[in-house]
Formats: sequence, structure tokens, C-alpha cells
Amino acid sequence: MTYENIIVSEQGAVGIIQFNRPKALNALNAAMITELNTALDAFQMEVAIGAIILTGNEKAFAAGADVREMKDKTFAQVKDENFLHDWDHINTITKPIIAAVSGFALGGGCEYALACDLIIAADTAKFSLPETSLGIIPGAGGTQRLVRAVGKAKAMDMILTGRMIDAGEAERSGLVSRVVAAAQVMEEAILVATKIAALSRPVAKAAKYAVNSAAELPLSEGLKLERSAIHAMFDLYDQKEGMAAFLEKRTAKFENR
Ligand code: HXC
Repeated sequence: MTYENIIVSEQGAVGIIQFNRPKALNALNAAMITELNTALDAFQMEVAIGAIILTGNEKAFAAGADVREMKDKTFAQVKDENFLHDWDHINTITKPIIAAVSGFALGGGCEYALACDLIIAADTAKFSLPETSLGIIPGAGGTQRLVRAVGKAKAMDMILTGRMIDAGEAERSGLVSRVVAAAQVMEEAILVATKIAALSRPVAKAAKYAVNSAAELPLSEGLKLERSAIHAMFDLYDQKEGMAAFLEKRTAKFENR
């Protein structure tokens, strides 16, 4: 598959997707989203891949949805084409996805990072949801996921003022998992992704599913889901192998079953 707006590569068991419209600070246009979804599906299907990294370049993870492409759309058009439905495709991917963010992650770019399972930020990263200043609201999950990530106070501040926060504030707020020096961000993301990819695949999938369910369910339902998920783990070869390896003081050899 040839891509024009993204660069796709693999490093061991890690699939890497890099946004590649540097002249537009990786503004996310329809062609790019289509390519991103194709690449995500390919990694989801590829047995050798256990985790995925989504990244941009030094200056921008992505500076938002492409404003030029959106500007003249009418209400009828966005309703008819169900504008943004294809942005939800990332939610169907069951392999863990890491956003490695340097520079601007704004608007839809910030929302894509929020749709990933964890965010590793360079100390140069800047996050904002500036949509209200463009006469719209965040529409790719930002009003929902940001609140769940950082709480109402910070989310309301960011969404109503469009204020840009730096990597330090993002880490203190719980928006990102870790902050590293800009030169190290991909190295760190690959280390983390490689570690995740070495887990038993059904275990990584179940952990991702259970944690994401916490945002959807009341506590009692979430706890029930967690309990049935851990019970199911005891039907895995990898549970026997993981525990035997611990007791025998050796590294587990998971078979993803
Ligand atoms: C289209 C964009 C863009 C965007 C940047 N560019 N962001 N094009 N859509 N979101 C283009 C600029 O037009 C410019 O193109 C080039 O990238 C470089 O940008 P500059 O502004 O010249 O760079 P700089 O001065 O360094 O400023 C960087 C910036 C600024 C602060 C990030 O570009 C900016 O504020 N961008 C827009 C951020 C934004 O509002 N994002 C939210 C979009 S709405 P030319 O051709 O002039 O060189 C959104 C909706 C999501 O995301 C919800 C629905 C999906």
C-alpha cells in the first residue's frame, strides 16, 4: 500500500504511523484520515504487530483538522456525509496505541492523541482545543475524553478559552503519561510499545478494554466486567506460562493463547 499523507513503518513488533503533511503542520484532512484508518486496520490484522505508535514530526503532532477543507461545509453536507464518522475508526482497534507527541497537538490533533491509549510527550509538546475560537466545538471526542482525562475544571478552561498548555502542565493534569526530552520521544515510545507488544496479546487486549470501559460504565458494572475478564484469563495458556515462568525465575514465553 502506498500512502501520500502518512508514513508507515515497523520496528520489531511495533507498527509506526507518522502523520506526514509537514507544510500544513500535519493538519488532518479527509485523505489522511482514510489512509490512517487503512494503516490502523493493517496493523490490527498483522499478527507480528503487538502495539502501534501514532506520531508526527518535531514541530507538530497535528495542528488540528484541516480548516481549509472544513471551512465551506454546510450543515446539510456535514449531516449527509456524517462528517467525522471516520475519525471514530481508531476506537475499533484492540491493540494498544501510543501517541508520541512533539510540538503542536491542537484541536483534532489533540483529540486523536486523546483517542490513543497513552500519550508520551516531548518537552516541546503543546496541547489545546482551540475550536471555539473557530466558531465550532471540539467534535472528535474532545469534550468527552478531555473531561475524563483531566476533570471538568481543566477541560472547561481549555475548551472555553482555547488555552494552550505545555507538556509539564499536561503531565500534571493527567493528560499525558510521561514527558521526555524531545530527542528521546520516539525512543521512549518504541521502548514502551515494545514492552507492551511482548505481553500476551489477549492480556494486552483485555487490559485495554477494561481500562477504556472505566470511562463508559458505572463502577459496579466496571468491576463486574473486570471480574469476568480476569476469570477468562485463567483459560489462557499464557496465564499458566506467565505464572510458571515467575516461579521458575525465567522469562515467560507467551504464545498469545
Ligand atoms: C489547515 C493549517 C492548520 C489547520 C496550520 N495550518 N494548522 N492548515 N488546518 N488546522 C497551516 C497554516 O495555514 C500554514 O499554511 C502552515 O500550516 C503553517 O502554519 P503557520 O500558522 O504559518 O505556523 P506558525 O506561525 O508556526 O503557527 C503554528 C500554529 C498555527 C500556532 C499551530 O498554525 C495555528 O494556530 N494553527 C491552527 C490551529 C487550530 O485552530 N487547530 C484546530 C483546527 S479545528 P500556509 O499555507 O499559510 O503556509 C479542529 C476541529 C477538530 O481541529 C474537530 C473536528 C475534527
